[in-house]
Amino acid sequence: MTESPVKVVPRNGAAPSGAGRRLQIKVLRHNPRDPASTPHWQSYEIEEADGMTLFIALTEIREKQDPSLQFDFVCRAGICGSCAMVIDGKPTLACRTLTKNHGRTITLAPLPFFELIGDLSVNTGKWMRSMSERLEGWLHMRDGTLDIGRIEATMDPELADRIYELDRCIECGCCVAACGTARMREDFVGAVGMNRIARFRLDPRDARNDADWYDIVGDDDGVFGCMSLLACHDVCPKELPLATQIAFLRRAMVKQGLR
Ligand code: SF4
Ligand code: F3S
Ligand code: FES
Repeated sequence: MTESPVKVVPRNGAAPSGAGRRLQIKVLRHNPRDPASTPHWQSYEIEEADGMTLFIALTEIREKQDPSLQFDFVCRAGICGSCAMVIDGKPTLACRTLTKNHGRTITLAPLPFFELIGDLSVNTGKWMRSMSERLEGWLHMRDGTLDIGRIEATMDPELADRIYELDRCIECGCCVAACGTARMREDFVGAVGMNRIARFRLDPRDARNDADWYDIVGDDDGVFGCMSLLACHDVCPKELPLATQIAFLRRAMVKQGLR
């Protein structure tokens, strides 16, 4: 008698192979521009394919079942940040999410906090731009000139690596969507903003000093508003060292504030 293979039942109902299941994708839908629209859940059923991502699943739903479903994707490779949404309760990137790592029913909601465009599409760009303008989150050359030779001057490779690490932020908005402080303070710059400051504070080409950084981020909308909830650190899809950066920045700003 031949032994039948052992059937592995995944703990959370996820599929080991990622194919053959009938998935139920539950989407929180709402069109804020339509006065008749109210937020409601809508379910779609699809056949799971091998290696299926939520980008593939949503595209199939839009192509075959519901062309009115709104969501955003650009790069499909975890680079542009446009596909962030709340997947089974956690803000993350849909294009990097394999359906096989989830149960048969997957719930999708738009990122909270940002302006809703419709269904799963939110306007993170508008918020990111306004945050960046408030923080002046760009390089301020020491003499105010845009001298390409000096912008591209060689840098200690170890320092360049540290700056590059923080430059990997794709402005997806997951850290802000997961942050309790951001829900209470509309103008809170979030971990993404503090990461931006930490990045330029490291940059030897930037003219600003700690007194300038204190003026920009040393208040309750910046480092002193952060309650160390650390959800930002847990959800960042690029695994940026947000907790460490916020702690460094807070220590520097406390020191500056005591002067
Ligand atoms: Fe996204 Fe991480 Fe950047 Fe926040 S810090 S916007 S979670 S990449
Ligand atoms: Fe929010 Fe992260 Fe601070 S979740 S409260 S920005 S540590
Ligand atoms: Fe660009 Fe997902 S589509 S990060």
